[in-house]
Amino acid sequence: MPDPQRAINAAQTRNAIFLVLAVTAGATAVDRTRRVCGDLDALVRAVGARDVQGNLSCTIAFGLDGWDRLFGQPRPFALHPFRELRSGRRFAPSTPGDVLVHIRAERMDLCFELAAQIMAQLIASVTPVDETHGFRYFDDRDLTGFVDGTENPSGAESVAATIVGDEDETFAGGSYVMVQKYLHDLPSWQRLSTETQEGIIGRTKLDDIELDDASKPPFAHNALTTLVEGGIEIKILRYNMPFGKVSDGDSGTYFIGYARSLHPLETMLEKMVVGRPPGNYDRLLDFTHPVTGTNFFAPSVEFLAALATGQPVPTLPVATAAAQARAHADLGGALNIGNLKGVLQHE
Ligand code: HEM
Repeated sequence: MPDPQRAINAAQTRNAIFLVLAVTAGATAVDRTRRVCGDLDALVRAVGARDVQGNLSCTIAFGLDGWDRLFGQPRPFALHPFRELRSGRRFAPSTPGDVLVHIRAERMDLCFELAAQIMAQLIASVTPVDETHGFRYFDDRDLTGFVDGTENPSGAESVAATIVGDEDETFAGGSYVMVQKYLHDLPSWQRLSTETQEGIIGRTKLDDIELDDASKPPFAHNALTTLVEGGIEIKILRYNMPFGKVSDGDSGTYFIGYARSLHPLETMLEKMVVGRPPGNYDRLLDFTHPVTGTNFFAPSVEFLAALATGQPVPTLPVATAAAQARAHADLGGALNIGNLKGVLQHE
Protein backbone atom coordinates (compact mmCIF):
# COMPACT_ATOMS: atom_id res chain seq x y z
CA MET A 1 0.00 0.00 0.00
CA PRO A 2 1.27 3.54 -0.69
CA ASP A 3 2.61 5.30 2.41
CA PRO A 4 0.29 7.69 4.25
CA GLN A 5 1.65 11.15 5.01
CA ARG A 6 3.76 10.56 8.13
CA ALA A 7 2.18 13.31 10.21
CA ILE A 8 -1.32 11.86 10.08
CA ASN A 9 -0.59 9.32 12.78
CA ALA A 10 2.18 11.21 14.62
CA ALA A 11 1.80 12.17 18.29
CA GLN A 12 0.09 15.44 19.20
CA THR A 13 2.47 18.40 19.66
CA ARG A 14 2.46 21.65 21.64
CA ASN A 15 1.86 23.95 18.66
CA ALA A 16 0.12 23.97 15.31
CA ILE A 17 -0.65 26.25 12.38
CA PHE A 18 -3.72 25.58 10.25
CA LEU A 19 -3.64 27.24 6.83
CA VAL A 20 -6.63 27.05 4.50
CA LEU A 21 -5.83 28.41 1.04
CA ALA A 22 -7.67 29.08 -2.22
CA VAL A 23 -5.73 28.51 -5.44
CA THR A 24 -5.90 31.62 -7.63
CA ALA A 25 -7.14 31.50 -11.21
CA GLY A 26 -4.90 30.44 -14.07
CA ALA A 27 -2.75 27.56 -15.20
CA THR A 28 0.44 29.08 -13.73
CA ALA A 29 -1.04 29.12 -10.21
CA VAL A 30 -2.24 25.53 -10.60
CA ASP A 31 1.13 24.31 -11.85
CA ARG A 32 3.05 26.18 -9.17
CA THR A 33 0.80 24.91 -6.35
CA ARG A 34 1.20 21.33 -7.55
CA ARG A 35 4.97 21.59 -7.59
CA VAL A 36 5.19 23.25 -4.17
CA CYS A 37 2.95 20.53 -2.71
CA GLY A 38 5.15 17.89 -4.36
CA ASP A 39 8.32 19.41 -2.85
CA LEU A 40 6.85 19.98 0.58
CA ASP A 41 8.62 17.04 2.19
CA ALA A 42 12.02 18.58 1.37
CA LEU A 43 10.94 21.87 2.97
CA VAL A 44 9.70 20.10 6.11
CA ARG A 45 13.02 18.23 6.37
CA ALA A 46 15.06 21.43 5.89
CA VAL A 47 13.18 23.42 8.54
CA GLY A 48 12.76 20.42 10.86
CA ALA A 49 16.52 19.72 10.83
CA ARG A 50 17.10 22.95 12.75
CA ASP A 51 15.78 21.12 15.83
CA VAL A 52 14.95 17.47 15.31
CA GLN A 53 13.57 17.27 18.87
CA GLY A 54 10.97 19.80 17.72
CA ASN A 55 9.04 17.08 15.82
CA LEU A 56 8.05 19.33 12.96
CA SER A 57 5.52 17.71 10.65
CA CYS A 58 3.09 18.81 7.99
CA THR A 59 0.05 17.25 6.38
CA ILE A 60 -1.26 18.64 3.12
CA ALA A 61 -4.81 17.99 1.93
CA PHE A 62 -7.13 19.17 -0.84
CA GLY A 63 -10.80 20.16 -0.97
CA LEU A 64 -13.01 18.96 -3.81
CA ASP A 65 -12.76 22.12 -5.93
CA GLY A 66 -9.04 22.31 -5.33
CA TRP A 67 -8.66 18.67 -6.26
CA ASP A 68 -10.54 19.13 -9.51
CA ARG A 69 -8.47 22.16 -10.47
CA LEU A 70 -5.10 20.78 -9.43
CA PHE A 71 -5.43 17.13 -10.44
CA GLY A 72 -8.71 16.53 -12.29
CA GLN A 73 -9.74 12.89 -12.57
CA PRO A 74 -9.52 10.44 -10.95
CA ARG A 75 -10.40 11.75 -7.53
CA PRO A 76 -10.93 10.13 -4.13
CA PHE A 77 -14.44 8.75 -4.45
CA ALA A 78 -15.69 9.78 -1.02
CA LEU A 79 -14.50 13.41 -1.30
CA HIS A 80 -17.33 15.92 -1.34
CA PRO A 81 -17.94 19.44 -0.01
CA PHE A 82 -18.76 19.98 3.67
CA ARG A 83 -22.49 19.40 4.21
CA GLU A 84 -23.96 22.40 5.95
CA LEU A 85 -26.15 21.58 8.97
CA ARG A 86 -28.84 23.67 10.61
CA SER A 87 -31.13 22.80 13.52
CA GLY A 88 -32.79 25.18 15.96
CA ARG A 89 -30.25 27.90 16.77
CA ARG A 90 -27.37 25.70 15.72
CA PHE A 91 -25.64 26.17 12.39
CA ALA A 92 -22.58 24.46 10.96
CA PRO A 93 -21.62 26.48 7.86
CA SER A 94 -19.73 25.19 4.85
CA THR A 95 -16.82 27.42 3.85
CA PRO A 96 -14.38 27.27 0.92
CA GLY A 97 -10.86 25.87 0.91
CA ASP A 98 -8.78 24.30 -1.87
CA VAL A 99 -5.70 23.39 0.17
CA LEU A 100 -5.24 22.63 3.88
CA VAL A 101 -1.77 22.85 5.40
CA HIS A 102 -1.69 21.33 8.90
CA ILE A 103 1.67 22.11 10.50
CA ARG A 104 2.62 20.75 13.93
CA ALA A 105 5.69 20.97 16.16
CA GLU A 106 6.80 21.23 19.77
CA ARG A 107 8.01 24.78 18.99
CA MET A 108 5.93 27.56 17.44
CA ASP A 109 9.02 29.03 15.74
CA LEU A 110 9.37 25.82 13.71
CA CYS A 111 5.69 25.95 12.72
CA PHE A 112 5.98 29.62 11.85
CA GLU A 113 9.15 29.17 9.80
CA LEU A 114 7.66 26.33 7.76
CA ALA A 115 4.41 28.23 7.18
CA ALA A 116 6.41 31.28 6.07
CA GLN A 117 8.56 29.22 3.68
CA ILE A 118 5.48 27.56 2.17
CA MET A 119 3.70 30.90 1.73
CA ALA A 120 6.82 32.50 0.20
CA GLN A 121 6.75 29.81 -2.48
CA LEU A 122 2.99 29.98 -3.00
CA ILE A 123 2.54 33.72 -2.66
CA ALA A 124 1.35 34.48 -6.19
CA SER A 125 -0.60 31.24 -6.54
CA VAL A 126 -2.93 31.20 -3.52
CA THR A 127 -5.18 33.46 -1.46
CA PRO A 128 -5.36 32.75 2.27
CA VAL A 129 -8.87 31.80 3.45
CA ASP A 130 -7.99 31.23 7.09
CA GLU A 131 -4.86 31.07 9.22
CA THR A 132 -5.13 29.84 12.80
CA HIS A 133 -2.28 29.38 15.26
CA GLY A 134 -3.05 26.78 17.92
CA PHE A 135 -1.28 26.18 21.23
CA ARG A 136 -1.28 23.52 23.92
CA TYR A 137 -3.25 24.73 26.93
CA PHE A 138 -1.85 23.11 30.08
CA ASP A 139 -2.28 19.30 29.93
CA ASP A 140 -3.88 19.16 26.45
CA ARG A 141 -6.96 21.03 27.65
CA ASP A 142 -9.49 22.88 25.56
CA LEU A 143 -10.24 26.48 26.63
CA THR A 144 -13.37 25.05 28.31
CA GLY A 145 -10.91 23.51 30.79
CA PHE A 146 -11.47 19.89 29.70
CA VAL A 147 -8.74 17.56 28.44
CA ASP A 148 -9.29 17.08 24.69
CA GLY A 149 -8.02 14.06 22.75
CA THR A 150 -8.15 11.40 25.48
CA GLU A 151 -10.20 8.86 23.54
CA ASN A 152 -8.18 9.17 20.35
CA PRO A 153 -7.21 5.79 18.87
CA SER A 154 -3.49 4.97 18.83
CA GLY A 155 -1.11 2.60 17.02
CA ALA A 156 -2.66 0.15 14.58
CA GLU A 157 -6.17 1.19 15.62
CA SER A 158 -5.40 4.76 14.64
CA VAL A 159 -4.03 3.72 11.23
CA ALA A 160 -7.08 1.52 10.59
CA ALA A 161 -9.39 4.40 11.54
CA THR A 162 -7.71 7.00 9.35
CA ILE A 163 -6.01 5.46 6.31
CA VAL A 164 -7.87 4.48 3.14
CA GLY A 165 -7.20 0.87 2.11
CA ASP A 166 -8.52 -1.41 -0.62
CA GLU A 167 -11.90 0.32 -0.64
CA ASP A 168 -10.39 2.93 -2.98
CA GLU A 169 -7.33 1.31 -4.60
CA THR A 170 -6.38 4.45 -6.50
CA PHE A 171 -6.17 6.54 -3.35
CA ALA A 172 -5.08 3.94 -0.80
CA GLY A 173 -2.77 5.50 1.79
CA GLY A 174 -4.79 8.72 1.85
CA SER A 175 -7.01 10.11 4.59
CA TYR A 176 -10.11 12.30 4.79
CA VAL A 177 -9.98 15.45 6.92
CA MET A 178 -12.70 17.71 8.29
CA VAL A 179 -11.92 21.09 9.86
CA GLN A 180 -14.19 23.50 11.74
CA LYS A 181 -13.15 26.63 13.57
CA TYR A 182 -15.27 27.11 16.71
CA LEU A 183 -15.61 30.37 18.65
CA HIS A 184 -16.43 29.93 22.36
CA ASP A 185 -18.64 32.07 24.59
CA LEU A 186 -16.32 31.52 27.53
CA PRO A 187 -17.98 33.94 29.99
CA SER A 188 -21.29 32.01 29.68
CA TRP A 189 -19.49 28.66 29.91
CA GLN A 190 -17.60 29.77 33.00
CA ARG A 191 -20.86 30.73 34.73
CA LEU A 192 -21.94 27.05 34.66
CA SER A 193 -21.17 24.87 37.67
CA THR A 194 -18.37 22.34 37.19
CA GLU A 195 -20.95 19.58 37.57
CA THR A 196 -23.07 20.97 34.71
CA GLN A 197 -19.98 21.35 32.51
CA GLU A 198 -18.99 17.75 33.26
CA GLY A 199 -22.45 16.57 32.20
CA ILE A 200 -22.11 18.46 28.91
CA ILE A 201 -18.71 16.92 28.11
CA GLY A 202 -19.39 13.54 29.73
CA ARG A 203 -16.10 13.45 31.66
CA THR A 204 -14.81 14.88 34.94
CA LYS A 205 -12.99 18.17 34.58
CA LEU A 206 -9.98 17.86 36.89
CA ASP A 207 -8.96 14.24 36.39
CA ASP A 208 -10.59 13.56 32.97
CA ILE A 209 -12.48 10.39 33.91
CA GLU A 210 -15.50 9.35 31.84
CA LEU A 211 -18.79 9.70 33.71
CA ASP A 212 -20.54 6.39 34.34
CA ASP A 213 -23.73 5.66 32.42
CA ALA A 214 -25.94 6.48 35.40
CA SER A 215 -24.61 10.03 35.72
CA LYS A 216 -23.91 10.81 32.05
CA PRO A 217 -26.71 12.83 30.37
CA PRO A 218 -27.88 11.48 26.98
CA PHE A 219 -26.75 14.77 25.37
CA ALA A 220 -23.17 14.51 26.68
CA HIS A 221 -20.62 15.36 23.97
CA ASN A 222 -18.87 12.00 24.29
CA ALA A 223 -22.20 10.13 24.21
CA LEU A 224 -23.23 11.81 20.94
CA THR A 225 -19.82 11.47 19.29
CA THR A 226 -19.43 7.79 20.12
CA LEU A 227 -20.37 6.00 16.92
CA VAL A 228 -21.26 2.32 16.99
CA GLU A 229 -22.42 0.70 13.77
CA GLY A 230 -23.11 -3.01 13.38
CA GLY A 231 -21.79 -3.53 16.90
CA ILE A 232 -18.40 -1.97 16.08
CA GLU A 233 -17.17 1.41 17.30
CA ILE A 234 -16.01 3.65 14.45
CA LYS A 235 -13.22 5.97 15.57
CA ILE A 236 -11.79 9.20 14.21
CA LEU A 237 -8.46 10.88 15.05
CA ARG A 238 -8.58 14.45 16.40
CA TYR A 239 -5.79 17.01 16.71
CA ASN A 240 -7.91 19.89 18.03
CA MET A 241 -6.11 22.97 19.30
CA PRO A 242 -7.12 26.00 21.34
CA PHE A 243 -6.45 29.36 19.69
CA GLY A 244 -7.42 32.93 20.23
CA LYS A 245 -7.01 36.49 21.39
CA VAL A 246 -7.90 37.74 24.84
CA SER A 247 -8.85 41.30 23.92
CA ASP A 248 -11.86 40.65 21.70
CA GLY A 249 -13.24 37.28 22.80
CA ASP A 250 -12.30 35.66 19.50
CA SER A 251 -11.06 32.40 20.93
CA GLY A 252 -12.06 28.78 20.76
CA THR A 253 -11.20 25.37 19.34
CA TYR A 254 -9.82 24.53 15.93
CA PHE A 255 -11.43 21.13 15.34
CA ILE A 256 -9.57 18.84 12.95
CA GLY A 257 -10.61 15.23 12.50
CA TYR A 258 -8.97 12.56 10.29
CA ALA A 259 -10.85 9.45 9.19
CA ARG A 260 -10.90 6.74 6.55
CA SER A 261 -14.11 8.19 5.13
CA LEU A 262 -16.11 11.35 5.76
CA HIS A 263 -18.99 9.24 7.02
CA PRO A 264 -18.02 8.99 10.73
CA LEU A 265 -17.07 12.69 10.88
CA GLU A 266 -20.36 13.76 9.32
CA THR A 267 -22.46 11.40 11.40
CA MET A 268 -20.88 12.59 14.66
CA LEU A 269 -21.41 16.21 13.68
CA GLU A 270 -25.00 15.56 12.71
CA LYS A 271 -25.62 13.91 16.08
CA MET A 272 -24.14 16.99 17.77
CA VAL A 273 -26.11 19.58 15.77
CA VAL A 274 -29.45 17.86 15.11
CA GLY A 275 -29.33 15.44 18.03
CA ARG A 276 -29.99 11.73 18.34
CA PRO A 277 -32.91 11.38 18.62
CA PRO A 278 -33.54 14.81 17.05
CA GLY A 279 -33.62 17.45 19.78
CA ASN A 280 -31.14 15.57 21.98
CA TYR A 281 -28.35 17.81 20.68
CA ASP A 282 -24.88 18.56 22.06
CA ARG A 283 -25.26 21.28 24.73
CA LEU A 284 -21.64 22.31 24.08
CA LEU A 285 -23.13 24.04 21.02
CA ASP A 286 -25.02 26.44 23.33
CA PHE A 287 -21.58 27.80 24.27
CA THR A 288 -19.57 27.52 21.06
CA HIS A 289 -20.34 27.80 17.36
CA PRO A 290 -18.42 26.92 14.20
CA VAL A 291 -17.56 29.71 11.76
CA THR A 292 -15.91 27.47 9.17
CA GLY A 293 -16.44 23.93 7.86
CA THR A 294 -14.43 22.29 5.07
CA ASN A 295 -13.65 18.74 3.93
CA PHE A 296 -10.29 17.68 2.49
CA PHE A 297 -8.41 14.61 1.32
CA ALA A 298 -4.74 14.06 2.26
CA PRO A 299 -3.24 11.85 -0.48
CA SER A 300 -0.38 9.37 -0.04
CA VAL A 301 3.32 10.27 -0.02
CA GLU A 302 3.71 8.65 -3.46
CA PHE A 303 0.94 10.79 -4.91
CA LEU A 304 2.65 13.96 -3.61
CA ALA A 305 6.11 12.85 -4.76
CA ALA A 306 4.80 12.37 -8.30
CA LEU A 307 3.65 16.02 -8.32
CA ALA A 308 7.21 17.24 -7.94
CA THR A 309 8.07 15.70 -11.31
CA GLY A 310 5.62 18.05 -12.98
CA GLN A 311 3.40 15.22 -14.21
CA PRO A 312 -0.24 16.33 -14.32
CA VAL A 313 -1.50 13.34 -12.30
CA PRO A 314 0.49 10.38 -10.99
CA THR A 315 0.11 7.16 -12.93
CA LEU A 316 -1.80 5.17 -10.37
CA PRO A 317 -4.51 2.67 -11.33
CA VAL A 318 -7.86 4.25 -11.97
CA ALA A 319 -10.60 2.90 -9.70
CA THR A 320 -13.00 0.77 -11.67
CA ALA A 321 -16.70 0.37 -11.06
CA ALA A 322 -15.90 -3.11 -9.73
CA ALA A 323 -13.36 -1.70 -7.27
CA GLN A 324 -15.87 0.86 -6.09
CA ALA A 325 -18.54 -1.81 -5.61
CA ARG A 326 -15.99 -3.82 -3.61
CA ALA A 327 -15.21 -0.71 -1.60
CA HIS A 328 -18.85 -0.24 -0.80
CA ALA A 329 -19.07 -3.81 0.43
CA ASP A 330 -15.83 -3.45 2.44
CA LEU A 331 -16.83 -0.23 4.10
CA GLY A 332 -20.37 -1.26 4.83
CA GLY A 333 -19.44 -4.80 5.75
CA ALA A 334 -16.00 -5.51 7.17
CA LEU A 335 -15.59 -2.04 8.64
CA ASN A 336 -19.25 -1.81 9.53
CA ILE A 337 -19.39 1.77 8.40
CA GLY A 338 -23.07 1.24 7.70
CA ASN A 339 -25.03 3.53 5.45
CA LEU A 340 -22.62 4.83 2.84
CA LYS A 341 -25.29 6.15 0.52
CA GLY A 342 -24.07 9.46 -0.76
CA VAL A 343 -20.59 8.88 0.57
CA LEU A 344 -19.58 6.89 -2.47
CA GLN A 345 -20.92 9.47 -4.86
CA HIS A 346 -19.69 12.90 -5.61
CA GLU A 347 -22.17 15.67 -5.15
C1 HEM B 1 -15.73 23.13 20.04
C2 HEM B 1 -15.59 21.94 19.51
C3 HEM B 1 -15.22 20.73 20.31
C4 HEM B 1 -14.68 20.64 21.57
C5 HEM B 1 -14.31 21.75 22.53
C6 HEM B 1 -14.53 19.23 21.85
C7 HEM B 1 -14.04 18.72 23.05
C8 HEM B 1 -14.00 17.39 23.37
C9 HEM B 1 -13.63 16.86 24.65
C10 HEM B 1 -13.20 17.71 25.84
C11 HEM B 1 -13.72 15.52 24.59
C12 HEM B 1 -13.46 14.51 25.73
C13 HEM B 1 -12.05 14.01 25.77
C14 HEM B 1 -11.66 13.17 24.60
O1 HEM B 1 -11.97 11.99 24.51
O2 HEM B 1 -11.03 13.71 23.70
C15 HEM B 1 -14.15 15.18 23.25
C16 HEM B 1 -14.34 13.91 22.79
C17 HEM B 1 -14.69 13.61 21.50
N1 HEM B 1 -15.04 14.49 20.50
FE1 HEM B 1 -15.06 16.49 20.67
N2 HEM B 1 -14.95 18.52 20.76
C18 HEM B 1 -15.40 19.39 19.80
C19 HEM B 1 -15.92 19.09 18.57
C20 HEM B 1 -16.05 17.82 18.07
C21 HEM B 1 -16.54 17.49 16.77
C22 HEM B 1 -17.01 18.51 15.72
C23 HEM B 1 -16.46 16.13 16.65
C24 HEM B 1 -16.82 15.23 15.48
C25 HEM B 1 -17.26 15.64 14.31
C26 HEM B 1 -15.93 15.61 17.89
C27 HEM B 1 -15.68 14.28 18.15
C28 HEM B 1 -15.28 13.78 19.37
C29 HEM B 1 -15.07 12.36 19.62
C30 HEM B 1 -15.20 11.22 18.63
C31 HEM B 1 -14.72 12.25 20.98
C32 HEM B 1 -14.41 10.96 21.74
C33 HEM B 1 -15.70 10.33 22.23
C34 HEM B 1 -15.40 9.07 23.04
O3 HEM B 1 -15.05 8.07 22.42
O4 HEM B 1 -15.48 9.14 24.27
N3 HEM B 1 -15.71 16.66 18.73
N4 HEM B 1 -14.31 16.33 22.53
